[in-house]
Amino acid sequence: MPNLRASRRGDLILDVDHRGRLAIVTGGARGIGKSIARLLSRDGAKVAIFYNRSGDEAHQLVEEAGHAGRSLTAHQCDLRDASSLEAAILEATQIHGPAQILVHNAGITNGSPMLGANVAGMREVFEVNFWSAVVATKAVLRDMLRAKFGRVIYIGSPAATSWATQGNTAYAASKAALHAMARQVAAEISPRGNLTANVVAPGYIRTDMTKHFAREYENAILGTMCSERAGTPDEIGEVVSFVASENASYMTGSVLEVDGGFGLKTISRRKNRREAE
Ligand SMILES: NC(=O)c1ccc[n+]([C@@H]2O[C@H](COP(=O)([O-])OP(=O)(O)OC[C@H]3O[C@@H](n4cnc5c(N)ncnc54)[C@H](OP(=O)(O)O)[C@@H]3O)[C@@H](O)[C@H]2O)c1
Repeated sequence: MPNLRASRRGDLILDVDHRGRLAIVTGGARGIGKSIARLLSRDGAKVAIFYNRSGDEAHQLVEEAGHAGRSLTAHQCDLRDASSLEAAILEATQIHGPAQILVHNAGITNGSPMLGANVAGMREVFEVNFWSAVVATKAVLRDMLRAKFGRVIYIGSPAATSWATQGNTAYAASKAALHAMARQVAAEISPRGNLTANVVAPGYIRTDMTKHFAREYENAILGTMCSERAGTPDEIGEVVSFVASENASYMTGSVLEVDGGFGLKTISRRKNRREAE
C-alpha cells in the first residue's frame, strides 16, 4: 500500500518519506543533482552529495541543510577514478550507515564528432557517465540486499533513445549503457526484496550543461516538445524523490521520461485559430 497522508485541505495525498535512509547523490552540488539532493533531504533522507570541483556550492548546501536541521554531508571525489569514488562511499557510509538510495546523476559531454573524434575525451565521458555508476552500484548493492530495500536511480537522457545530434556520440552511447544497465540491475535485485533500479531521463533543463546553447538551437529543441518550455531542476528532483520512495515499489527497470513531451510536438489549434481570424 502506498503511504498516504491528509493534506491541509483534507485530501489524501502520497506521502514521500525517506526518514532513516541514506541517499547518495553524485554530482549533487549543482544543477539537477543539487535539486535532487535538496528534495530528498526535504523528504527526510540523510543525504551524501558527491562533488568534484564544486566545493563551495557543496559546502553551501551542507550549511543550508544544517540550518534546516537536516543531515546532509559533502564528499569530494573524482568519478573518473574508481578508488576515489569508493573512498567517498566508505566515508559517507561511515558517517550515516549503509545507503538505501543511490542516485547517479553526474554527467558530462565532450561534443566530439565521430569525424576527428577525440577518443580520450570520449573515454572520459564513459568514465564519468557510465563506469562510475557501475562502481557505485556494486559498492551499495550488498547493503541494499541485506536491508531488503534499495533504490538505484540513474539519470539518463533522451539522447540514449530518440535524440540524435552531431557531436554527441559518447554522451548518447554512455546514457544508452546506463539505460540498459538499469534493466539488468533490476532483473538481478528486484526478486530479492523491495529493490528497484530505474532511469529518470530529463528532457531539456537549463543548467551549466546547457547554458552555452545558442538561442536558435534552444528554440529548435523547445519546438520539438509539447510543453514548449525548458524544465527546471526541481521538476526532475520531485520525480526522483518519488521513485526513491516506498510508493514506487512496483516500478523497476523503467525509464521515466520527464521531458515536457519531448518528441510529441503538438499541432496548435490555438495558433491555427489565431491565424484564421
Ligand atoms: N541539463 C539537461 O538538459 C539534461 C538533460 C538530460 C540529462 N541530463 C543529465 O542530468 C545530469 C545532471 O546534468 P546537469 O544539467 O545538472 O549538468 P551540470 O550542471 O553540468 O552538472 C554536472 C555534474 O556532474 C559532476 N561531475 C562532472 N564530472 C565529474 C567528475 N569527474 N567527478 C565527479 N563529479 C563530476 C559535476 O560536479 P562538480 O561540479 O563538483 O565537478 C556536476 O555536479 C547529467 O547526467 C546529465 O547528463 C541533463
